[in-house]
Amino acid sequence: MSYEVSGRPDSPTPSVLERSAVIDLEAIRHNVRQFVAIASPAKVMAVVKADAYGHGAVQVARAALDAGARWLGVAHISEALGLRAAGIDAPLLAWLHTSESNFAAAVAAGVDIGISGWELDAVVAAAREQERPARIHLKVDTGLGRNGCTIDDWDKLLGKAMEHQDEGLLRVVGIFSHLAVADEPHRPETDEQLAVFREALAMAEDSGVDPEVRHIANTPATLSRPDAHFDLVRVGLGLYGLSPFDGQPSSELGLRPAMTVRTLLSNCKRVPKGQGVSYGLKYRTEGESSLGLIPLGYADGVPRVATGGPVRIKGTSYPVVGQIAMDQMVVDFGDLDPEQAAALPGSEVVMFGDGADGGPTADDWAAAAGTINYEIVTRISPRVPRSYINELAPVEGAAL
Ligand SMILES: Cc1ncc(COP(=O)(O)O)c(C=O)c1O
Repeated sequence: MSYEVSGRPDSPTPSVLERSAVIDLEAIRHNVRQFVAIASPAKVMAVVKADAYGHGAVQVARAALDAGARWLGVAHISEALGLRAAGIDAPLLAWLHTSESNFAAAVAAGVDIGISGWELDAVVAAAREQERPARIHLKVDTGLGRNGCTIDDWDKLLGKAMEHQDEGLLRVVGIFSHLAVADEPHRPETDEQLAVFREALAMAEDSGVDPEVRHIANTPATLSRPDAHFDLVRVGLGLYGLSPFDGQPSSELGLRPAMTVRTLLSNCKRVPKGQGVSYGLKYRTEGESSLGLIPLGYADGVPRVATGGPVRIKGTSYPVVGQIAMDQMVVDFGDLDPEQAAALPGSEVVMFGDGADGGPTADDWAAAAGTINYEIVTRISPRVPRSYINELAPVEGAAL
């Protein structure tokens, strides 16, 4: 593994050698290629919201487009504008807005805007002002109960959108929805949502809407429901090589986890039997023991509740013992030879990675924290510098 060194001893920039989230862009490209093959003839939208689930939106977006994704998706217009500012001009959809969202900038930057209802007037006003048609995707709530127009109001929204399209103020590029339980393939609600989606598409057709793309599938639906692919699938988690299915590791899906969070062991010291560890002294050593100190804590994004989560040091996995603190957590090496223990500071510690060597994974930390792998990678904080391996060399003069 090689790291880009972003810090110097005299620099306030943290060194990636001290701690880093290493993102393997070849793993991202591999995962995208898998989804391109699975979804074909439907196209792939790479979902890079929340800084690409913590992996770095610009780098992931470039890798995903390189590997065959045709679209990008984010939640916020501000996230979309960040990608445009980095020179990425692929089709790009943002779907979650407030009255403070910068619709004018989105229209100016050619960002597609998801519309659930009230946003339409604001977007049309921006398009009118700029004399540039907005690109919109109408969102229907097929059962998730979050964003999206209810099926009862759908006809009205379609009618209004078509009036504005006829005025030349917008183009309805897409119609979409989002699934609630696709990660639990046995549940009947996905069929119910797909039925409502088909009804919404039929109503759109009756209203004269002719979208380029109809889309509803997320990662689990892309993997398990070919009948949900339509024209485009919106893949987030799977791009990062993680499995959306409880109990099914990503290796069984042909995916490769892209993020490795690693650091260096800060300290290792011999302590007597009964030594309490960390705040609350909730853990005590069973005998004379060596305690290793890992300089990662909840300020770095390690869940505070995840005591027991594994870390890998010199080919062995150890559970974290005692309370996870803001900056640090502890492992108990037990009755390790004192000379060996003294040599451990400075050794690499892997919190999670691809698991290929039997090492810890984001799934292990999700289990320890009682959460999902989505949250484990996404919550790794900016205090952990990102570094990239297997980046493709930029092609001279090429624009994305
Ligand atoms: C609207 C929408 N589409 C697609 C996705 C991607 O979902 P997943 O990460 O399960 O692929 C998300 C993520 O939550 C989303 O909010």
